[in-house]
Amino acid sequence: MDVVDSAAVTAAAEHIRLRAGAPGRIALILGSGLNVLAERAADAVAIPYGEIPHFPHSTVPGHAGRLVAGRLAGVPVLIMQGRAHFYEGYSPAEATFPIRVLQALGVEVLCVTNAAGGLRGDWSAGDPMVITDHINLVGMAGHHPLRGPNDEALGPRFPSMVRAYDPALVERLQQVAQERGITLRAGVYAMVAGPSFETPAEVRMLSVLGADAVGMSTAPEVTVARHAGMRVLGLSLITNVAIRTQDDPHEPTHEEVVEVGQRAVPVMAALIEGVLPHLDASLSARQG
Ligand code: HPA
Repeated sequence: MDVVDSAAVTAAAEHIRLRAGAPGRIALILGSGLNVLAERAADAVAIPYGEIPHFPHSTVPGHAGRLVAGRLAGVPVLIMQGRAHFYEGYSPAEATFPIRVLQALGVEVLCVTNAAGGLRGDWSAGDPMVITDHINLVGMAGHHPLRGPNDEALGPRFPSMVRAYDPALVERLQQVAQERGITLRAGVYAMVAGPSFETPAEVRMLSVLGADAVGMSTAPEVTVARHAGMRVLGLSLITNVAIRTQDDPHEPTHEEVVEVGQRAVPVMAALIEGVLPHLDASLSARQG
């Protein structure tokens, strides 16, 4: 049974505090191909996941596996360069252990990024999408990160997931995109288990369900972050257009996902670095 191991969370948080000091109240998770964004951090302290007690690490190419404490756009931020996935064999609770550590470190705002397949015919590979909501197919099927006894000290038994993706932060990011002349899509992210890409029938099913993008991460992290009371901003990069018919000669590949991710780094960096000062200002306002 999954229970949050508070001693393990404390040990991991203490290790990070010892090496990185007070890490700030904003965290950023970088998905496939977007890891190089962390290289832009100033005053960076990087800790390989393998050196943090109990921290899960990703085995996927394109996921670096380091926690980087530093400043992006002048704002102190804790960056997870890569994440652990359900398809790697981690339970949803294990994969979201880092979110509990962020909670213990006092993180209040979580910005999650991912690579996703686009489900809309009028969208292209390379388009960024702000996540307005999600469909956690894995969670709804029973692999839920909050399954098991609830620790009321961490969050409520039955957390609300209405406005899981903070509408004010969505709007902020849309403003940043507009100011910088970036076309930013908005839509619903569906999480599937992976690791196979979807069949054309599954792609059509996801569209019928109301999803605009599909990926293999994020929803469990956001669920735990909301349980922990964090505000969440989600940003997908559409790395490929999901294939709807067998007549389409194209095949999705992980290499394509990583390559499109790397090419989109300037746009993703402009969005993230553009919104970070707003996130920081909202923190200070709340503190005062
Ligand atoms: N499907 C699922 N996950 C993904 C995809 C996709 O097409 N692209 C990037 N991550």
